Amino acid sequence: MVKVLAFSGSTRNGSFNQALVENAAEAAKAAGADVTVISLADYAMPIFNEDEESEYGMPERAQAFKQLLIDHDAFLIASPEYNSSYPALLKNAIDWASRKTGDEPMLAAYKNKVVGLMAASPGGLGGMRVLVVLRMLMQNLMSVVTPLQVSLANAGDKFDDNGKLLDETAQKQLTNLTQQLVSMAAKLNAE
Ligand SMILES: Cc1cc2nc3c(=O)[nH]c(=O)nc-3n(C[C@H](O)[C@H](O)[C@H](O)COP(=O)(O)O)c2cc1C
Repeated sequence: MVKVLAFSGSTRNGSFNQALVENAAEAAKAAGADVTVISLADYAMPIFNEDEESEYGMPERAQAFKQLLIDHDAFLIASPEYNSSYPALLKNAIDWASRKTGDEPMLAAYKNKVVGLMAASPGGLGGMRVLVVLRMLMQNLMSVVTPLQVSLANAGDKFDDNGKLLDETAQKQLTNLTQQLVSMAAKLNAE
C-alpha cells in the first residue's frame, strides 16, 4: 500500500492549508493510500544554521521529520503563499530534511518521492504563485511532482466549522489529485 505523508506549511490555529491537507488526506485514503497527517507545530526546529549543524548535529525534531519523509512514498503538501512564495516555516523544515546524516544516500527524504501540491488563500488567486516555486523546489530535490495541483481561492468561505471542505469542485480536484498521486507512487514503487 502506498504510504502518504500529509502536512501543511502553516501552524496557525484554524489554518486553511492544514484544513485543506486534512481533506486531501481523506481523499488519499479513499484512493487506497495509508495516510499519516502531521502538523509542523509538532516538529518545531531552529532556523537552519550550518555552524550549529556542525557543532550540535541535526536537532531531534528535524531528524524525526526527516525520518517521516524517508518512511513514506509520497507527500501531500498544502502551503500558504507568503509574498508570492513559500513560508519560512516550510522551507526551513524542507532544508533541514535535505541534510545528509550517517551513511544514508543524498536526498534520502526526497529522491523519487511523489509530491502532490496544494495552496489555500483567503485571496482570489488561491496561492497560485507559491505552487510554481514549490513545484520547482521539490523537483530540484529529486522528487516527482504530480501534474495535477489544487489551488483554493477565497478559502475563508470554503470550509465548515469542523474544517470540512464545502466546495464540490475543489473536492473533486482533491479526488483527482490524490488518485494521480497514489497511482504514480505505486508505479514508482513497483520499479
Ligand atoms: C507575511 C505574509 C504574506 C502573505 N502574502 C500573501 C500572498 O502573497 N498571497 C496570498 O494569497 N496571501 C498572502 N498572505 C495571506 C495568507 O494567504 C493568509 O494569511 C493565509 O490564511 C495563510 O494560510 P493559513 O490559513 O494556512 O495559515 C500573506 C500572509 C502573510 C502573513
